Amino acid sequence: MCGIVGYIGEKQAAPFLLDGMSKLEYRGYDSAGIAIFERGKIRIEKCVGRLDALKQKLASNLPEGTVGIGHTRWATHGRPSDRNAHPHANSNGDFVVVHNGIIENYLVLKEALVEKGHQFLSETDSEVVAHLLEENYDGDFEETVKKVLRMIEGSYSLVFLCAQEPNKIICTKKDNPLVIGLGQGENFIASDIPAIIAKTRRTYIMNDGEIATVTKDSVWVQDINGTPISKKVFEVNWNAEAAEKGGFEHFMLKEIYEQPKALRDTMTGRVTKDGKRIDFSELNWTAEEFADINKIFIVACGTSYHAGMLGKYYFEQLARVPVEVDIASEFRYRSPIIDSNCLTIIVSQSGETSDTLAALKEARRLGSRTLAITNVVGSSIAREADQVVYTYAGPEIAVASTKAYTTQLIVMLMLAIYVGEIKATLPEEKALSLVQGLKAVPEQIHTLLENIEQLKVFATQYGNSQDAFYLGRSLDYAVALEGALKMKEISYIHAEAYAAGELKHGTLALIVEGVPVIALATQDDVYDKTISNIQEVKARDAVVIAIALEGDDSIGKYVDHVIFVPRADKYLTPLLAVLPLQLLAYYAALTRGCDVDKPRNLAKSVTVE
Ligand code: F6R
Repeated sequence: MCGIVGYIGEKQAAPFLLDGMSKLEYRGYDSAGIAIFERGKIRIEKCVGRLDALKQKLASNLPEGTVGIGHTRWATHGRPSDRNAHPHANSNGDFVVVHNGIIENYLVLKEALVEKGHQFLSETDSEVVAHLLEENYDGDFEETVKKVLRMIEGSYSLVFLCAQEPNKIICTKKDNPLVIGLGQGENFIASDIPAIIAKTRRTYIMNDGEIATVTKDSVWVQDINGTPISKKVFEVNWNAEAAEKGGFEHFMLKEIYEQPKALRDTMTGRVTKDGKRIDFSELNWTAEEFADINKIFIVACGTSYHAGMLGKYYFEQLARVPVEVDIASEFRYRSPIIDSNCLTIIVSQSGETSDTLAALKEARRLGSRTLAITNVVGSSIAREADQVVYTYAGPEIAVASTKAYTTQLIVMLMLAIYVGEIKATLPEEKALSLVQGLKAVPEQIHTLLENIEQLKVFATQYGNSQDAFYLGRSLDYAVALEGALKMKEISYIHAEAYAAGELKHGTLALIVEGVPVIALATQDDVYDKTISNIQEVKARDAVVIAIALEGDDSIGKYVDHVIFVPRADKYLTPLLAVLPLQLLAYYAALTRGCDVDKPRNLAKSVTVE
């Protein structure tokens, strides 16, 4: 993880660096630092804690200079501390580096450097790069960087300064994101677009192995062998406000409220003009190619994995293709049985998650066709997959994923309908009613979002519980898993989700008087069974909050509280049922005084294994 920024131009670098870092804090926030050329020397300022701590430290003594780099850290090697904060430098401070990723062979390199007399100040893997630059510098910054890149192994985005060559910044990447923002008489470097969008929409998205020399008037890109690379300008199609809170207290709340728009945007252009069918002509696979697919793997991490679990129901039930859903970190090491008739669907909001990217590469190596569902245009996963379907959720900044999840669901449902129609496994009327239902979802979510007072009350009432349990069957079970994850990650309540029928095989022992149980009962075909499971926990004096469909008059008899969601097709209800769970987690976190957008130990984009 970690967020990186760089500036070179005619203006003061520090204000841009600090502002850019604030937009990247979702990538890590345990320490922060900047390095700026000031009166012929590189001045480094850094400290443990949030960016605000650095800002306070610099309030009356901001480094002055027009060339600089910055970093906000999520610790991997070396605990959060002043010394381990980036930027890192060699002993005399002539070579300075910020790094996102892991230098896997740093110990061997460090030992060799220590033998040669280098003194290390931090416990990080990253510092080794600054010393390698010093050790190999021969008067040519670019050539030295190339030499060093040949020595290091691992994943990285790296940005370098060299005191001897103050009019340039060099940057490169492998398996971690990096963009260059193109300005007039100034250029910007960042891990992600929100850091530069207020300055420019014109960007170069860096690819693995590319090395850029950035000056105030030019960006020159080459590969490690010195072959020049001509880059295409990528115009970002959203604006700076999209990366701001827009009056909401937290990004998470803003993003929950953006779901109707995100879903509309994601559906746009994917429904035929007559409004009756799904249209994925953006995929250049023929109907025959789809018909040939006899197995689907869906691979992802975290919330995206939970979306994938629903994808399994969609593809199996609507397109009648067997589906395996895998956690990416497991899939990549389990030798899955795959051939060219398999389709591996990779789901990732960021498009940069290290395990998910590795799983995609593994699926390709094994001969699978691959399709990425991602929110970030030009991300590593988007570039690596055979086909990409973008979710148009807009930038998701809060660490807890919300709008990305619902847009992933809608894409998988639409794809399943599309494939179901191609394979003639889905009757035309059913497809039509699903498409009609899909179009109504944004408005239904909007209505839900207008009636959340009851949820706030529950969050205050139960927000100080130590544990919470989430139950559901079938599609509700997958949604329960997502609800529990939201609760865990932002409120730190120990929340577990179970397939309701599994309770009596062990978990029931944990149900004690007063423990909150959130029971999802939106699936008609398993409704009675779910009610039986609710009675099991009620008999042990749990407090049950049910999520049920509007018009369900009987559920009130069995539970303590009910949150109703609009009635919709069974495949669409997850899109609605997850809303109260997102909000419950949000308001519970507020009740407990948690930092919703920056939960402890977490960062948004997990670009390390
Ligand atoms: C939880 C959350 C994470 C991500 C996971 C995968 O709210 O956001 O569990 O879903 O880290 O990230 P992406 O989708 O970017 O690959």
